[in-house]
Amino acid sequence: MDLFEVYKRWDIEPVRGSGTTLWTADGQQYTDLYGGHAVISVGHCHPHYVKALTEQARELGFYSNAVQNSLQNTLAAKLGKASGYGDYSLFLCNSGAEANENALKLASFATGRAKVLAFGKAFHGRTSGAVGVTDNPKIRAPFNANPNVTFVPLNDLEAVEKELTRGTYAAVIVEGIQGVAGIYEPSDDFLRGLRNLCDKTGTLLVADEIQSGYGRTGLFYAHQHAGIRADIITSAKGMANGFPIGGVLISPAIKPAYGMLGTTFGGNHLACAAAIAVLEIMEAEHLVENAARLGVFFRKALEGNKAVAEYRGRGLMIGLELKPEYVGLRDRLLFQKHFFTGAAGEKVIRLLPSLTLSEETAQAFVNAWNELTA
Ligand SMILES: Cc1ncc(COP(=O)(O)O)c(C=O)c1O
Repeated sequence: MDLFEVYKRWDIEPVRGSGTTLWTADGQQYTDLYGGHAVISVGHCHPHYVKALTEQARELGFYSNAVQNSLQNTLAAKLGKASGYGDYSLFLCNSGAEANENALKLASFATGRAKVLAFGKAFHGRTSGAVGVTDNPKIRAPFNANPNVTFVPLNDLEAVEKELTRGTYAAVIVEGIQGVAGIYEPSDDFLRGLRNLCDKTGTLLVADEIQSGYGRTGLFYAHQHAGIRADIITSAKGMANGFPIGGVLISPAIKPAYGMLGTTFGGNHLACAAAIAVLEIMEAEHLVENAARLGVFFRKALEGNKAVAEYRGRGLMIGLELKPEYVGLRDRLLFQKHFFTGAAGEKVIRLLPSLTLSEETAQAFVNAWNELTA
């Protein structure tokens, strides 16, 4: 059987990893500043993570949500403490798109309203509800077109106000920083204004922190830079360092009811063990602080660089918009210098490295960049 090939793949196969280093099937060594799309938060094969997963696999890998699972409670307590959302509750699922599906469904249940406001260039996932609030008609099948969704431009508070004052919206969904679009930030003022308008109109604010969360921007969640709280926050990607998991953090004002949400695999023992280990490593190694520190390092080193038209982002969520004559640099970084990076279209290189990245490795990347652009 062939694969149903929907991906554009590099002809490279990583088979082993340690920290920010990868080794490929043909014995080559690479440095990973992409983290498999912001997923590797605590480095490849961190010893504490490997131990936690293997020990859990030996004890019990899975049982469904028909029984008690104290690993879920441990994860909720640790996540509450790390995120500053200790008064919220946690629903566990298996991916980012699924977290957003559940968040929007909950907002609709809680408000009794059907409509959702989303933003231009947003990406929230590929399942029906999530792709319905994603501003990319190319990945939306006719089945997914959702008449309940309206898009307005990011950072346009007037457009938001015009819609929300209709009083028909269950939720506004906003990325902490837009990732897939190419690293575009909602301004702090915009987020504060959004919070205000949500409060005035009884609309729930859903922060999609799937890519921007988990310490990546130098605070646990990116929207916290604006000093606001969201009503529902979605997490995935870095949450379990590659083990599939998604989480929905839910305000105490939203009450659960039997059967409202559910999943077979969500919150399983292996996923929880992996996610707990990630939070333990983040705390022990001060990784949120490291992300903030290295964000400052990269900005100093690459903002204003001759190849960079614009430096965007915060902490270790970085978008480097290339000047037209440097398009193609990402391939050269990979094939000539052995650095994995991410992209957004042809023009933007995205750095989404593990939060364990060292300054020495960051400097090695900057050196490679400077050599290729000299
Ligand atoms: C902001 C954001 N939301 C949702 C998703 C979807 O997550 P998943 O691929 O785990 O479904 C992504 C994935 O890139 C994302 O960046």
